[in-house]
Amino acid sequence: MGGAMVAVIIGIIWFPLVFFSLGSAVGETNVPYDVTLEIRIGPYEPIYRMSAQSNSIYSFKPDQLDQLRMVYNNFKSSGTFINNYEAADVAAVKLSIDSGNIWGISPPDRKRMVAEINSTNPVQVRLDYKISHQTSKPEDTGIIRKGVAITLPAETEDRANLLKMLEGLPADPVLLQYLLPKFIKVTNRGTVEPVEELMLPQPDEKAASLRNITTNLNKTGEEEWWRIREECNDTNYELFLRDLPYQDCSNSIILYTFNDKVFPPTLEFISGGGIIGLYTTLVLVASRILRGFFSDQCGKIMFEDLPNVDRVLQLCLDIYLVREASEFALEEDLFAKLVFLFRSPETLIKWTRPKEELADDDEDEDPEDGAGGDH
Ligand SMILES: *[C@@H]1O[C@H](CO)[C@@H](O)[C@H](O)[C@H]1NC(C)=O
Ligand SMILES: *[C@@H]1O[C@H](CO)[C@@H](O)[C@H](O)[C@H]1NC(C)=O
Ligand SMILES: *[C@@H]1O[C@H](CO)[C@@H](O)[C@H](O)[C@H]1NC(C)=O
Ligand SMILES: *[C@@H]1O[C@H](CO)[C@@H](O)[C@H](O)[C@H]1NC(C)=O
Repeated sequence: MGGAMVAVIIGIIWFPLVFFSLGSAVGETNVPYDVTLEIRIGPYEPIYRMSAQSNSIYSFKPDQLDQLRMVYNNFKSSGTFINNYEAADVAAVKLSIDSGNIWGISPPDRKRMVAEINSTNPVQVRLDYKISHQTSKPEDTGIIRKGVAITLPAETEDRANLLKMLEGLPADPVLLQYLLPKFIKVTNRGTVEPVEELMLPQPDEKAASLRNITTNLNKTGEEEWWRIREECNDTNYELFLRDLPYQDCSNSIILYTFNDKVFPPTLEFISGGGIIGLYTTLVLVASRILRGFFSDQCGKIMFEDLPNVDRVLQLCLDIYLVREASEFALEEDLFAKLVFLFRSPETLIKWTRPKEELADDDEDEDPEDGAGGDH
């Protein structure tokens, strides 16, 4: 029994861990159904806005995952990261390099933007990405947003190029340094994080998770739109990105998402509170039950396994008898005697000696007889 109890306790302690680590096995693949990217310079009309829906979000096939593994063959921590996912959990998101919208900034706003870029204040550039995926919790919409912000310092070539573009002069593309997350980890807790395991931090810390992009303003007739491009001549591109499935630097922006599996709705009631919730509940319930087994025990010890209960039984029967006979005063005395027995385990021991010992015992008077009345 002790062994079984220990097994049960170990089982209780392990269950949440096992459940959540098997979650990746019992869960369902959960690739995003929409990925939206938006870039804005300062507070003005976004310069780039593009969405990818399911038809341009590609789940990896097993051979593509093998290709990914091959690329990171010599990099242990990258391999460990990739091994957390099955092929179908990794997705490539293909976005067009041309913004999906005509740039519709109003002329006064454009003037303000030109003035701000021409000023000596730093200008902020923000990239926001929004990832929508299925969730098993009804209260969670499954839309996750995150952003990256950089500043364009004043009096740089890029600011000058930006200014030229806005005035319609020919200009080189503007470099936006470390703005685009390339690999994104989407968890089922509703967070997204740029992955840092899949690129080397060269030549900068930030190069491990973010990519340089360039942007330029294009025009046909009166219509203007922005075009962005990933910069593809650095170490990380040469070492890894070049060989990845779907990678296509010149014609599209490719992001990769690594998606946690989602628990099926039927298991949601267990996993809803997360691993901490599950632990708390289990530990509370289990400790209640375990304590329930033992906490009453000490109160019962003196009444269990008594050697000979004939006299006590006789006392109880006598109480019934006198009640039948309406001898209530006597009943009260006898009941007081019974209560006295409960209060005094020592007397109970004397009273429940085995029959053969009773004979010796009869000589010394029962101490409670004085208090309890006749018998
Ligand atoms: C930028 O500022 C300088 C001096 O402050 C001014 O001479 C120039 O015309 C401005 N350029 C634009 C495009 O407004
Ligand atoms: C957009 O602008 C770039 C650089 O200014 C130019 O090379 C390209 O041909 C333009 N594309 C279109 C469609 O106008
Ligand atoms: C990003 O651009 C900066 C500035 O040109 C450059 O120093 C850096 O090496 C680039 N990083 C990558 C990964 O291309
Ligand atoms: C990448 O190419 C651009 C333009 O071709 C160049 O300015 C930049 O220095 C190159 N970056 C690296 C890291 O070679």
